[in-house]
Parts: sequence; C-alpha cells; structure tokens
Amino acid sequence: MALPARRYPLEGINLKDPLLFEQGMPHALFRQLRYEAPVYWNEEPEEDEPGFWALTKYDDIVAVSKNPQLFSSAMGGHQISYPPGLEFNRATAAIVGNMIGMDPPEHNAYRRLVSPSFSAGAVRKMEPTVREMVTRILERLVPGAECEFISEVAAELPLVVLCELLGVPQEDRRLLFGWTERLTDFVNTPEDQVAAFAELFAYGQALAERRRREPAGDLMSLMANVEMDGQRIDQQLLDGFFLLLVIAGNETTRNTISGGLLALIEHPDQYQLLREQPALIPTAVEEMLRWVTPVIHFRRTATTDAEIRGQTIRRGDKVVMWYPSANRDEDMFERPDVFDVRRKPNEHLAFGEGQHFCLGAWLARLELRVMFEELLRRQPRIELAGRPRRIRSYFLSGFTSMPVRLAPPQTAAERP
Ligand code: HEM
Repeated sequence: MALPARRYPLEGINLKDPLLFEQGMPHALFRQLRYEAPVYWNEEPEEDEPGFWALTKYDDIVAVSKNPQLFSSAMGGHQISYPPGLEFNRATAAIVGNMIGMDPPEHNAYRRLVSPSFSAGAVRKMEPTVREMVTRILERLVPGAECEFISEVAAELPLVVLCELLGVPQEDRRLLFGWTERLTDFVNTPEDQVAAFAELFAYGQALAERRRREPAGDLMSLMANVEMDGQRIDQQLLDGFFLLLVIAGNETTRNTISGGLLALIEHPDQYQLLREQPALIPTAVEEMLRWVTPVIHFRRTATTDAEIRGQTIRRGDKVVMWYPSANRDEDMFERPDVFDVRRKPNEHLAFGEGQHFCLGAWLARLELRVMFEELLRRQPRIELAGRPRRIRSYFLSGFTSMPVRLAPPQTAAERP
C-alpha cells in the first residue's frame, strides 16, 4: 500500500502535543509511523520527562497489553506523564493507585471485587432502565429544530447511567460533568486540574460516608463497605475508584456517541442502511468504536530490558500504545480507512486488551446500541448545523460542541 501524499519529517514529531489532535486524529502521521518507525522514540518537551516509545502497530500493542510482568501499569502510572502541580500529592496517589494503575496479583484481587457488577449478565438486566433513560433524553428534542448534540444527548446518557451505577443523585450529574471537563482538557491549567481533583475526591468521600451509614444496592455502597483481608479498602483507593469510574465511564462513551453520529452524518448511505436494517446496529457500534477510538493512548513502563520489533527497550522506559493507529493498521483490517457498519470480524482495540481490558465494555456497548436504536428509529435524517469543535487532548478524542439539525419525518414511513 502506498504511503499518504502528505509526509511528515519524523524527526521531532511530538505525539504529546494536544494541538496535533485538535483538527482530528492525525491518521496520516500514524500511518507513516507504522511504515517508517513503528517503535518510535518520542522526545518529551518537558525538561524532567525522559521521552517515551510510541507503539503504533496492532500486534505490538496486543503483545504489550498481554504482558503486565514485562510492561507494568503500576510502575510510573498509566498516562505518559502527570501535570507537574500534581506531583506527590493525593491526586497522583489516587490516579496511580487505582485498579487501572495496578499490576497482578493486586490488580486481579481488586478487579474481582467489582467485575460482577459489569458482567454481560449484570449489564443485560440494565437494558430496560437504559432504554428508558435514552427515551427520556430523545423525547426532549424537537423535530426540525437545532440541538447541541454533545450537552443535550451524548453527554447526558453516560452521566445518568453512571449516577445510577454509583448511587450519585441524578441532580448532581452536572457536577460530574464539570469535573470530567476540567480534568480531561489538557490545555486546562494544572492549578484548576488540582482543584477539580480535590472537589471530586471530597464529593466521593462524602458519598462513601453516606453509603456506610445507609448502604444501598449501588457500586459506591459495595466499595465503601467491602473488606479485603479483614480491612475496608483505604480512602486513597476509594478516591481512585471514584475518579476512574467518573472519567472512564463518562467521556469515552459520550465521545463514541458523538463521533459515531458524525461518522453516520458523513456517510449517509450507512445511516440509511441502519434505518432499513436496525439488526446491523450491534456491528455498527463496533465499527463506531474502531472508527472513533475515543481513548487515544495508555502507557506501560518496562520492568526489565526488552525488545519490540528488534528495538531495545530499557528497564524503566515508558511505552505508549496509540490505539487509533492500531485500529487502522492495514495488516489487521481490510480497507481500514472505510467506515463500514457491516464490518465483521472487527477485533478493534478501542477497549484495550489483556490484563486491563475495559471493565465497562459491556455497559458502553449497551448504551451505544440502545442510543442508536432509538435515535435512528426516530430520526430519518440528522445534519450538522455548525462546525463540530474538538477537545484539546492527546488522551481522549472527542468534541466539546456539535450543533445538529433533526430533520422532521416527511412521510408516514419515516415516522417512528
Ligand atoms: C466507549 C467507551 C469506553 C472506552 C473506549 C473505554 C476504553 C478503555 C480502555 C482502552 C481501557 C484499558 C486501559 C489499559 O489497558 O490500561 C479501559 C479500562 C477501563 N475502563 Fe473503559 N472504556 C469505555 C467505557 C467504560 C465505562 C462505561 C466504564 C465504567 C462505567 C469503564 C471503566 C473502565 C475501567 C474500570 C477500566 C480499568 C480496568 C482494569 O484496570 O482492569 N470504561 N477502558
């Protein structure tokens, strides 16, 4: 396959620049990296950061994800680096000290605690509630009118589901929304990120205390009261747990809903196909996950000297896995740059792989499927009413704003 016409001088390319992602995923650059430097050394602009290896090939990312002994999530954390203002305070400890930043055997023990709440069976039971939530959100929209799809639709569903799951009162969901916004905008100031962490932890602590006094059937009740080796889990882990679920369960699903809709708007034939054959929606959801890949990267740290594609990785080196690149790897996917709602098989890595495979994958899939079933059934056409604005991040891919116009049904056949 030929290289893209636009070539980047690889020397000096910095994948840690949020502005690189502002206009959309830099797929041409990822493609070039896969061909020319699949294990690329990325210098970091910060003086006290040593640089990292950027992995862009599907197979390498799978191999690293499946080998936590060699590539640790605990040693140094799971992000490339942390805002400098956070060093050595409680926020860093909570980020690093939650399940996503643990290695086995500790990781297995914590994962066992919460995984029953996220199993396929547990999630299946949530379908009627999720459908009710989706219906309520969509019924507020006015046919023919413009709406801000992110705040009115895409952000709403994960928030209401997360509140239900964690036991957060629905009227507080805008607080969760605000914290995720401030924590995931990489151009936000470190001071404001520190403040947002503090507010989120204080809220989580108050909720945990309430659930100790009055346990209910939610996840916070479980985590606040559960004992491991005869002891309740400590506050730092509870902070980390709350933070992880609020961030992991929120923006990712929101960004797949909005990115998925944008893909359908840009591919009207695929939109029509799904309207005619809603049974294809489950495969369409997988294709949206591949296409959007809302989590751009996670990091591991080499616990010992290792080799990837002949490249020596030294003990302590950061190794960063770029999921959007893996999901367009032409060695794995036929016609990777084509959006095809019938694509099967579709072994994308949007949810990661191996030891830390996304715990919320079944839940996210349910939210996405029900949202698109209900949206497409009601809406014969949706068009953009303005230019979507992307978030500034090299960690999460998504939009802050997407104005759309909902076309009213024109014929009886178009009515739900
Ligand atoms: C489209 C939606 C989602 C995407 C693309 C996504 C993506 C990911 C990825 C890539 C990982 C792997 C991290 C690693 O390997 O280091 C992960 C882990 C995780 N996700 Fe998700 N996620 C989504 C939705 C959710 C939801 C809805 C929840 C919960 C409400 C959730 C909770 C978690 C948790 C707890 C982990 C850590 C698992 C572990 O460490 O064992 N995610 N997610």
